Amino acid sequence: MDNKFESGPDYPKLLDNNDPLGHYRNRFYLKKESIYMCGNSLGLASKDAEESLLNAIEHWKENGIKIWNVENNKYYLYSSYLARLMAPLVGVGEDEIAVIECTTTVIHQAISTFYKPTKDKYKILVDDINFPTDRYAVDSQVRLHGYEPKDAVKVVKSFDGKYMKEDDIIDAMSPEVALILLPTVYYRTAQIIDMEKVTNAAKERGIIIGWDLCHAIGALDMNVKALDADFAVWCNYKYLNGGPGAAAALYINRKHFDLLPGMAGWYGNKPETQFNLKQEFEHQKNASGWQIGTPSVFSMAAMEGALRMFNEAGMSNIRKKSLHITKYMMYLVEEKLGKFGFVIGNLRNDSQRGGHICLEHDEGYRISMALKSRGVVSDFRDPNVIRLTPTALYTSYVEVYRVIDILKEIMKSESYLEFGLKRDYVV
Ligand SMILES: Cc1ncc(COP(=O)(O)O)c(C=O)c1O
Repeated sequence: MDNKFESGPDYPKLLDNNDPLGHYRNRFYLKKESIYMCGNSLGLASKDAEESLLNAIEHWKENGIKIWNVENNKYYLYSSYLARLMAPLVGVGEDEIAVIECTTTVIHQAISTFYKPTKDKYKILVDDINFPTDRYAVDSQVRLHGYEPKDAVKVVKSFDGKYMKEDDIIDAMSPEVALILLPTVYYRTAQIIDMEKVTNAAKERGIIIGWDLCHAIGALDMNVKALDADFAVWCNYKYLNGGPGAAAALYINRKHFDLLPGMAGWYGNKPETQFNLKQEFEHQKNASGWQIGTPSVFSMAAMEGALRMFNEAGMSNIRKKSLHITKYMMYLVEEKLGKFGFVIGNLRNDSQRGGHICLEHDEGYRISMALKSRGVVSDFRDPNVIRLTPTALYTSYVEVYRVIDILKEIMKSESYLEFGLKRDYVV
């Protein structure tokens, strides 16, 4: 794809006409009166996702409890079924993924499995700019083992409050560190961490390492298997468009299949003996063994259609388009918004930026409110970041052009000053 752009209004039309993924847009529920720029937070509904969800409802209507047995036990084994569709997107074995619960619970599941503190090796290494739910989970896990987070949770500080240096993380891998949990893509700045470098350093030091792929899955083309990390977690409702509160995923490296899950439940029992209902847990020796309870079918079914679309489009094509359309957006920001005080808050290197653009401005909150009132659905993260996500499957180049035009109008007219600073529950 050409990375030289033009600033005129006809140019995005040309890009749309030549976009090999452009036709996927027709399979999503887009609104005429608005432009959706929030796929990094909650992906849009597609006809494919709707169909697989309605299919599950239809099976429930038709079959009652027999829903578990239809289509060769598809819903009883739904975690494995979806894992098969998910595996190519992260490059791991399908038996290494469990589709369960929400990300936070899955982090608890992973840490309670892998965190085996000893007197000398008892700390968990995290950073101070990750999405906070990871930290809440880690803090509560060390407390369960009788430690105080201020002692047992070692926090790597961002050198500037925005970005993280891999070397700072590696320097913090002292002998007391037992486990590391880090994000692959930072939710505010979209910075990508060099997972290979950090994972290798952890392995050299005998430290368990897990990655939170929430902002990476469906945006980056990853080969998690080659990393040989111990575990990974991710949500499926952002770039993957699996629906609000869609079940999350847990990757367990197959070398750990013999471990017992920290939070066992009857769905982690071998399926052959699960319904024998014995009091002794018989652990299924693959990632499905980390399932806890009954699959939440309606939080999983939309994912089925959404994932098929990802496989059809291909992760490398999706990443290619994402890099190109976000680069176009940055180009327009610089061409058209230069004098309005915006700073592009994501790194420029393709290898260091995820799927969203991060626009910083002192009036970021009110500008994001003004954008919403003009039909641009974006979000805001403290202290000053407007996140804008042109997605590969449903955003057009014309929409990107339009968003920048709207921003220019808002800044020129100062219409953002009409908005107050009072926050809603979800910003
Ligand atoms: C890095 C990261 N982890 C976890 C979550 C959310 O966790 P959950 O799916 O449990 O709500 C988010 C949400 O944005 C996130 O950015």
